[in-house]
Amino acid sequence: MNEGIKGKILSVPAFYRMMIGQKIQWIKSCPSTNDLARELAISGEEEGTVIIAEEQTKGRGRKGRSWYSPKKSGLYASVILRPPKAGVSLIPLVAGLAVREAILETIGVEVWIQWPNDLVWEEKKLGGILCESGFLGNRLSFLILGIGLNINHNLEDFPTEMRPLVTSLRIIKKEYIALKNLLPILWQALDAWYALFLEGKEQEIIESFLKNSALPLGEIITVVTDKGAFTGIFKGIDSYGRLILEEKVRKRTFLSAEIDTIKCE
Ligand code: BTN
Repeated sequence: MNEGIKGKILSVPAFYRMMIGQKIQWIKSCPSTNDLARELAISGEEEGTVIIAEEQTKGRGRKGRSWYSPKKSGLYASVILRPPKAGVSLIPLVAGLAVREAILETIGVEVWIQWPNDLVWEEKKLGGILCESGFLGNRLSFLILGIGLNINHNLEDFPTEMRPLVTSLRIIKKEYIALKNLLPILWQALDAWYALFLEGKEQEIIESFLKNSALPLGEIITVVTDKGAFTGIFKGIDSYGRLILEEKVRKRTFLSAEIDTIKCE
């Protein structure tokens, strides 16, 4: 009898995770959805939960920059993930691929992914990804995947100094963009790419990324970091998500956190 019950318990799938976007919390305004998602993750919120805000008052970008987040113009979303530690630096690539795919499928616009975390169209920034991790001791407990996308901004909605550098889906398509069409496809795509990551298909992720990279393989680039600028040939991305640069005498790899900007010759 006991054996039977045990057998049943063991037959329950060992691995279950909630699909990304199955649970969504919409809020009107907050300083940063990444902060809100972090609080929820700390209090035990499940993997896959998404927080979306209509505006952020202290939206954050990479390297302590701010992320312009006016009301109802953009997508400001954070997803709670609980991945195994290995290879988490591939997650921004996973997110970039999903956002690109969702935009192509629902709006018909082909955008490029600029390593490590930018979405660009005709060299102008359309969106960005900000991954922040949470540790319990030295164990990765969660990762907050923040996605910012310029959706319905007109050019005049951006501060003057940003205008030459940015774009939005509305500017590209010359029409209002309904988020309700884009979002379900985005969560579906993100879930599929994330599943691939969990299955250990790093090479597939890296190859797809390189096919859609704004920076072509073989391009001469200068990587600007806090420790100086390094010029060489862009040789790809390794399985840790690091950029590979071939200098005249040696190869270097860079984590996204080390990089300030990448300049093309
Ligand atoms: C970057 O390009 O520097 C990354 C920008 C990431 C912005 C998003 S918007 C939702 C989430 N909340 C934040 O405060 N930042 C991210």
